[in-house]
Amino acid sequence: SWTTGNIVEEQVEAIRAQVGTKRAICGLSGGVDSAVAAALVQRAIGDQLTCVYVDHGLMRKGETEQVEKDFVAATGVQLKVVAAEKRFLDALAGVSDPEEKRKIIGREFIRVFEQAQAELVAEAGEEGEEVAFLVQGTLYPDVVESGGGTGTANIKSHHNVGGLPEDLEFELVEPLRQLFKDEVRMVGQELGLPEEIVQRQPFPGPGLGIRIVGEVTKERLDLLREADAIAREELTAAGLDRDIWQCPVVLLADVRSVGVQGDGRTYGHPVVLRPVSSEDAMTADWSRLPYDVLAKISTRITNEVADVNRVVLDVTSKPPGTIEWE
Ligand code: XMP
Repeated sequence: SWTTGNIVEEQVEAIRAQVGTKRAICGLSGGVDSAVAAALVQRAIGDQLTCVYVDHGLMRKGETEQVEKDFVAATGVQLKVVAAEKRFLDALAGVSDPEEKRKIIGREFIRVFEQAQAELVAEAGEEGEEVAFLVQGTLYPDVVESGGGTGTANIKSHHNVGGLPEDLEFELVEPLRQLFKDEVRMVGQELGLPEEIVQRQPFPGPGLGIRIVGEVTKERLDLLREADAIAREELTAAGLDRDIWQCPVVLLADVRSVGVQGDGRTYGHPVVLRPVSSEDAMTADWSRLPYDVLAKISTRITNEVADVNRVVLDVTSKPPGTIEWE
């Protein structure tokens, strides 16, 4: 019969059979799927796996530490962290257009990841080992959507890493291919992953980069991180995590409004709360959050986050609004 324990055992066997004595690489995004896929493969082949995490500086407060410390502590996985914040911020300097931001973040991400990958391949080669596998957290709905075939990833190397072939061929390891999201969370739990990772709400790949309306800068990111952390903290404290699909907090960086704080006039930025309920993100409705929770979030953000003097609530469903503002 179907149990989460069976799935783990079966997949561990299958991964061992597939990978043998070779090496594998897995990119961690901070999301549930890549974390659970990596934890399963780690359970199966231990140190033959290396995970790569690109720190692009666009994560929310505490999320990079969650991967670096909690995930590593829970799994014992070998992790290579690439600190790339400056590179991403430099590339984003002066850019306000949402699609342009997405393109830049995606492009830089692939470059940084492939460079890290190429370094790992080269290091393993020196030890006489071969990196032949790339782990991906593909779920059943993704498989159905893309027509069902298995494949190999043909990774083009944009960088000249001495002596490496231009195209590195990896075979894919996709241990979540038969699972739905809720099953993936159960497998993650079974593998002892931290609750904050297993129950994580969806978060866009471009991160906070598309939650700042206007140019993305370090100062603005820090400010948004604080406001977002307060909103998450209060929603969790109120026991609302399971009722909410996502709650983006958006910084209107090019808007200022007049306020009064203490004895003085302020001229600060608004942040928008965008709590939504949804089944699949295709459509969504704005969440009717209790007023006292909204009041607490608003009071705390305006008291604790310098330069934010107004909190507004987005009461638009999708359609016509999208979940994110960019
Ligand atoms: P929208 O804003 O289109 O978002 O209603 C629907 C869902 O997709 C997420 N989202 C993204 N995820 N890269 C991602 O990986 C992106 O560029 C991106 N844009 C939006 C959003 O958070 C929501 O869950």
